[in-house]
Amino acid sequence: MRYTNLIYPLLAATSAASVLAQRPQQPLQQPNLGPAMPPTDSSPSTSAPADSDTVILSDVLGRDRSINIFAGFTRDFAYISQRFEDSALNTTILAPVNSAIMALPRKPWEDPEDYDRLGDQAYEGEKGEERAQRNMRRFVEAHVVPASPWKEGEKVKTLAGGEVWWESRDGAKIIQPGNIEVSSIASKVYNGEVWILKGVRNYA
Ligand SMILES: *[C@@H]1O[C@H](CO)[C@@H](O)[C@H](O)[C@H]1NC(C)=O
Repeated sequence: MRYTNLIYPLLAATSAASVLAQRPQQPLQQPNLGPAMPPTDSSPSTSAPADSDTVILSDVLGRDRSINIFAGFTRDFAYISQRFEDSALNTTILAPVNSAIMALPRKPWEDPEDYDRLGDQAYEGEKGEERAQRNMRRFVEAHVVPASPWKEGEKVKTLAGGEVWWESRDGAKIIQPGNIEVSSIASKVYNGEVWILKGVRNYA
């Protein structure tokens, strides 16, 4: 199972950065089930296709190194990756900056309830791995908004199910609930936008 490759190094690593160093730095390339757009003759290399309208989220999510931990997490869930490759489904990706993920008091796949119920063994063995994967999936889903353009004040359910909206404050976008500031919009492409968050959304 592909997840094993990610979760165990992550569990063992002292910081997510060292994990990333072990992972190949390459743009998102899942087994190619057929490109959303035919390659154009005008783009001799894989970088920066000439026509910006044909660039989609899966092309750009891996580009910004400041969010590559979150980008890596999304790759472990095929249906989420497929959504980003789908030019017919618009998405706003709320990608927490690496430093916010690394500063979390508990890892994205850890749930205090699991520890209460199961103790230190909560994430060991096959069942533990499933539990960790479920929690990780919830973390990623809480940062995927199935809408773009996404207007101020518009309440949308994330893929995790919780409602989310944003408001402007002093020229910045603030994600609610949680008062999480958007530091910048990393990409605007054909099927959505990647917003960089200074913090993470509540994930349990
Ligand atoms: C998807 O995004 C594009 C902008 O890239 C927009 O023109 C289009 O209306 C959006 N579609 C939906 C269903 O929101």
